[in-house]
Amino acid sequence: MKSPTPRPIRSPEGRLGVLTPGMGAVATTFMAGVESVRRGLAQPIGSLTQMATIRLGKRTERRAPLIKDFVPLAELDDVVFGGWDPIPDDAYTAAKQAGVLEKEQIQAIAPFLKKIQPMTAAFDQHYVKNLQGTHVKKGKTKRDLAEQLRQDIRDFKKTHKLSRAVAVWCASTEIFIRPGPAHKNLKTLEKAMDRNDPSIAPSMLYAYACLMEDVPFMNGAPNLTVDVPAMLDLAREREIAVGGKDFKTGQTLMKTVLAPMLKARMLGLAGWYSTNILGNRDGEVLDDPESFKTKEESKLGVLEHILQPSLYPELYGNIYHKVRINYYPPRGDNKEGWDNIDIFGWLGYPMQIKVDFLCRDSILAAPIVLDLALFADLAQRAGMKGIQEWLSFYFKSPMAARGLNPEHDLFIQQTKLKNTLRYLMGEEQITHLGIEYYEE
Ligand SMILES: NC(=O)c1ccc[n+]([C@@H]2O[C@H](COP(=O)([O-])OP(=O)(O)OC[C@H]3O[C@@H](n4cnc5c(N)ncnc54)[C@H](O)[C@@H]3O)[C@@H](O)[C@H]2O)c1
Repeated sequence: MKSPTPRPIRSPEGRLGVLTPGMGAVATTFMAGVESVRRGLAQPIGSLTQMATIRLGKRTERRAPLIKDFVPLAELDDVVFGGWDPIPDDAYTAAKQAGVLEKEQIQAIAPFLKKIQPMTAAFDQHYVKNLQGTHVKKGKTKRDLAEQLRQDIRDFKKTHKLSRAVAVWCASTEIFIRPGPAHKNLKTLEKAMDRNDPSIAPSMLYAYACLMEDVPFMNGAPNLTVDVPAMLDLAREREIAVGGKDFKTGQTLMKTVLAPMLKARMLGLAGWYSTNILGNRDGEVLDDPESFKTKEESKLGVLEHILQPSLYPELYGNIYHKVRINYYPPRGDNKEGWDNIDIFGWLGYPMQIKVDFLCRDSILAAPIVLDLALFADLAQRAGMKGIQEWLSFYFKSPMAARGLNPEHDLFIQQTKLKNTLRYLMGEEQITHLGIEYYEE
C-alpha cells in the first residue's frame, strides 16, 4: 500500500525558548531535570520524546525507531528556559524551597539554575487566595499587563537569540471561573481586559500575550485560560497551537487506566472515593475552596466521559464519585493518593479495589512539561493550529473541539498521539487490527 504524503514541517533550527508562567515545584523540577540530562547526570525517565519508540509499518517489518529519531524535535541542547513568578526566587532557590530534588542534585547545577530569574508576574491574589506575591507587574488595566507580558516575550527571544518559543503554564490553580460573555470573542475579551473585568484571570493574560506573540500555549492547570471561544478563535486566526488542561499525573492517571478496564469488561461501578494528601505549595493553594473547585471539576469529569452512563445505565447510572485533596505539610511534594473503588460483577455481586499511590507530584509532572513543550513546538512547525487533541494523553481535562467529548482513556490517547506522529511523517496509521496475517 502506498504511504500517505508527509506533512511539510519546518526544521527545528536555532534555539527554542520554553517559558513557564510559574517557577515553582513543577517548573524547577523540569528545568533542573533537563539540565541534568543534558550533562549526562540523569535519565529523562517518564518522557516519551526522549525515551519512547514508535512502531512503523507491519509488525513483520520490525521498524520501531525512537520518537526523537522519527520526528524532527528540538534538541535538548537547544532549549532555553524562562519564566514568570510573583515570588522573586531564582530557579535555584525555588528548587531548594520546593524540596523535590536532592540537595546534591540541585547543587551540581547551581550556577545554571541561579541564572534563571523570574520575570515579574501578572498576578492578583483574588485568583489565588493562599499566595502572596511581591514580584508583580503594575498596570492600570489588565490589557496593560498583557502588553507587558508581550514585551517580556519579545525581550526574552531577543536576549537569548531564539528562533521560536513555547509556553507551558506551570503556575498555581486559580479560582473557578465559568466561561461568560467576556470570553465570547476577541473583541469582548479585549474590552473586558480594558475595563478590568473580574472574569479575566491572570492566566488569560499570559495566554493572550503568547498567542499574540506566536507562542504555542499549553495549560498544565485546570484554569479555563485558553479554553474559551475568544482564545480559540485567536489561536486559529494566528495559527497557533494550544492545549490543556491540567497535567494528568497521579490519581487521575490511574483512574484513566482503571476505568476503561472496568468498561472493557462490562463490570459495574457503584462508587469511587478518591482522596489525596499533599504538603507542597500547590497543596496549600488547593486548600482554598475556590481553587479546589477548579481542580475538582477537572478531576470529576473523567469517569463520566469514560464510562458513558447514558449508554450503560445498569452499570454506571448511579455512581457515587468523590474527590478530596487535603493539605498535609509533612509530606511535602510526596503525595499520597488513595482510591477506594466499589465495583460489581456477574449477577451484581460487589467487589472492591484499593489503590494507594505514593507518588511524587513534580517528578511525574516534569517529563510532561518537557514533552508538551517539544510536541507543541513540533505542531507549530507543522502548521497545526488550534487545539492539539493528540496531546490529550498529557491532560486530566483535555480540551476538545466545540461540541465534541474529550477522550480520557489513556491508551486511546496514546494511540492517537502516535498515529498523529505517523501521519505527520507520512507513515501508515496503525489500527492494531493485525489484518496483515489474514491477508498473507
Ligand atoms: N503532578 C503535579 O505536580 C501537577 C499535576 C497537575 C497539575 N498541576 C498544576 O501545575 C501547577 C504547578 O504546580 P506546582 O506543584 O509547581 O505548584 P507551586 O505552587 O510549587 O508553583 C506554582 C508557582 O506559580 C506561581 N504563580 C502563581 N500565580 C502566578 C501568576 N499569575 N503568574 C506567574 N506565576 C504564578 C506561584 O508563585 C508558584 O511559585 C499547579 O497549578 C498545579 O495544580 C501539577
